Amino acid sequence: MSVLEEAVIGGCTDGLGRIDEIMAGRSACREFCDTPVPRQAIEHILRVARFAPSGANIQPWHVYVLAGAAKDGVSAALLEAHETSSGEHMSEYRYYASDLPDPYLRRRQEFGRLFYGSLGIAQTDVEARSRQTAKNYTFFGAPVGLIVTIDRRLEVGSWLDLGMFVQNVMLAAAGRGLQSCPQETFSKYHRILRPLLSIPPEQMVVCGISIGRARVQETKRLMPRANVDEFATFAGFEA
Ligand SMILES: Cc1cc2nc3c(=O)[nH]c(=O)nc-3n(C[C@H](O)[C@H](O)[C@H](O)COP(=O)(O)O)c2cc1C
Repeated sequence: MSVLEEAVIGGCTDGLGRIDEIMAGRSACREFCDTPVPRQAIEHILRVARFAPSGANIQPWHVYVLAGAAKDGVSAALLEAHETSSGEHMSEYRYYASDLPDPYLRRRQEFGRLFYGSLGIAQTDVEARSRQTAKNYTFFGAPVGLIVTIDRRLEVGSWLDLGMFVQNVMLAAAGRGLQSCPQETFSKYHRILRPLLSIPPEQMVVCGISIGRARVQETKRLMPRANVDEFATFAGFEA
């Protein structure tokens, strides 16, 4: 059984559906090659991703799609800010609870070990970690970068909808053989992104998504997942 099959069905002998393969095969790509992705491919991805469900079908998403000089201009401005004035910028929303309880704290610590371990970066090496963070702002070398925003007048329910849309974008990309990385790091520099992309004041920068072809095709999933019995409670099924 392939690693992918094990990831999905964990010992069962059923075949994998195409959609299962895409979901279990997607992972965050942080090293892209510069092979261009045509505008039509991104338009196709967005045409499919827009079928994400949303409460009362309000479709609370907006994306700024960047390539070429537009993307490079954004990267240069954010890299400069990251190097010279990082402490002066802050996201408009809080992604993580400040006091993370278990099991989330334990999982985040495991993420740190696996992620920095895979890059050969000691978790205490602040400069190397900052250099890795900086790579976010180059969209990890991807030819296309999306900046995703939401209207700040909407409530938390609409953020659920937005998450589904973001996942749809990444799955539609994977279905076309493209890799992606969702990136909350972009929200920190909303003050720089706003004038560069003409983002209206009511829109809040939520995240970015890098899209392209991986420099090296990953054969093994880096980030594990909890088993189903750790997060699902069943009732009413026959034994
Ligand atoms: C909304 C969101 C924001 C994220 N932001 C970043 C980011 O800023 N930089 C980054 O390298 N990875 C980011 N990630 C990727 C996560 O670290 C990754 O999804 C997680 O470790 C699980 O790994 P996998 O997606 O490869 O399975 C983000 C993921 C999500 C869903």
